[in-house]
Amino acid sequence: MYDFTGRRALVTGGSRGIGAAVVRQLLDGGADVLAVARTTAYAPPQGARFATTDLRTTEGVRALADTADRELGGVDVIVHAAGGAQANESGSTLGLTDGDWQDVLDLNLLAAVRLDALLAPGMRDRGVGAIVHVSTAALVPPVPPFAHYQAAKAGLESYSRSLAAELAPAGVRVNAVGPGRTATPGGEATRQRWAGTADATGSADVPPLGRDGLPDDVAGAVVYLASDLASWITGAYLSVDGGEYPRG
Ligand SMILES: NC(=O)c1ccc[n+]([C@@H]2O[C@H](COP(=O)([O-])OP(=O)(O)OC[C@H]3O[C@@H](n4cnc5c(N)ncnc54)[C@H](OP(=O)(O)O)[C@@H]3O)[C@@H](O)[C@H]2O)c1
Repeated sequence: MYDFTGRRALVTGGSRGIGAAVVRQLLDGGADVLAVARTTAYAPPQGARFATTDLRTTEGVRALADTADRELGGVDVIVHAAGGAQANESGSTLGLTDGDWQDVLDLNLLAAVRLDALLAPGMRDRGVGAIVHVSTAALVPPVPPFAHYQAAKAGLESYSRSLAAELAPAGVRVNAVGPGRTATPGGEATRQRWAGTADATGSADVPPLGRDGLPDDVAGAVVYLASDLASWITGAYLSVDGGEYPRG
């Protein structure tokens, strides 16, 4: 559907779930894709390059940027899809430890900040590029044990808008996508942890559009925003959630 011929793309979280669907769709469009995960537990879609690193550390992000330079010779598209929250045994906001906060902020927010800091200047200098950050649609209604996750994603969206404003004059676009409940390994694990916790989202069992999302539903929005069809869209946030979490 999209033409990414000659484009070099880096997709974090590209070994499974939403990230893997993004990788597949970018490959279908003709992109040269480097998929990134922490482990080799899952293999990325066939045809993609693959790198493992722990994105929660500055060293891990720096090593990844070096790999991207070496393997791709530059990056035209960045998709930060790696994310999620570790189990929080306390079940409360005040029970989150310093380590819980650091871990979740590192993966969901700072990994994107650090990766963009290393790779976006090349995009700016070439005057071309698209960045998509994967947030969450479930951002506003409070879920106390996941305060760190919601805060990290809120920060990611705010940061995306600032970066979009800064890079727009250079022709580089930055957007965010917020998935609702999507059938992925990480999504299922998180929902099991949410079950029985103080969930104040008031969300229904089934999203208004009648089903949970599939990885390709979310990837379609991500890849659209990364494509030239979205060439006049920057600083935007797009919910892909079956209508579950309207934002006023
Ligand atoms: N699924 C949902 O319902 C849902 C809802 C709202 C928002 N989201 C967001 O959508 C994005 C993708 O979610 P998903 O459900 O597709 O995730 P997933 O199934 O848990 O997959 C996560 C991917 O990120 C990688 N990853 C995790 N920690 C990493 C680390 N420290 N360093 C490098 N890579 C790491 C994983 O690699 P390994 O396999 O090696 O760990 C895997 O490739 C996330 O940002 C998530 O917050 C998802």
